[in-house]
Amino acid sequence: MRLDKYLRDLGIGSRKEVKEYIRKGLVKVNELIIKDDDFKIKENEDLVYFNNELLKYEKMIYLMLNKPAGVISSTEDYKDKTVLDLISEYKHLDLFPFGRLDKDSEGLLIISNDGELGHKLLSPKYHVKKKYYVEVEGEVNSEDISEFKAGIYLDNEKCQSALLEIIESNNISKCYVTICEGKYHQIKRMFESVNKKVLYLKRITFGNITLDDNLKLGEYRKLTKEEIELLKDSK
Ligand code: URA
Repeated sequence: MRLDKYLRDLGIGSRKEVKEYIRKGLVKVNELIIKDDDFKIKENEDLVYFNNELLKYEKMIYLMLNKPAGVISSTEDYKDKTVLDLISEYKHLDLFPFGRLDKDSEGLLIISNDGELGHKLLSPKYHVKKKYYVEVEGEVNSEDISEFKAGIYLDNEKCQSALLEIIESNNISKCYVTICEGKYHQIKRMFESVNKKVLYLKRITFGNITLDDNLKLGEYRKLTKEEIELLKDSK
């Protein structure tokens, strides 16, 4: 990788600024001052110093995981398997899941080490939409749709308007629910408040990202460049 790109990736400065720093002799590679901005480095081997401080190259990584039931959405746990145990190949990169799915829930989980983006997308102010496929015990009806739309009360706190779409209404009903918050067990509790029990829950979208149908439970893949841009633009 070019030395100037490496420095830009780390946020040391703009293209112009890092070239300037290199020319001024502020950058060392393995103890040698390098004044050539297209000098090539091996980012995983060479030691690069800026202002005599060793830089740590942290690659940003963005993954989508199809979370299976039975694993928890934390970074570590003394008893249960975590979602990070499923992606041990990148474990050294300080990954964390963007939001949580319950232990028995399945589906889309974005896992990354981009703390700034995660923080932004999970902030309640940001209202990132999440769509779930849900199976519930009992017949879901138009009253439920209206109640979800009006905002269900959970512990005396009104949820934001949610979209309930019925796929099939029967003894066991199938539907989609879209919410833009992430309260504890939110979907399960919303259905409980209309006297229905969630039997199965799977997240299918997070912001502008949709779960890849080709991923089997427990499988993951990197987001494409386009998906990373879409994720950053999520509302
Ligand atoms: N709502 C829930 O109740 N559980 C989840 O895992 C996600 C949303």
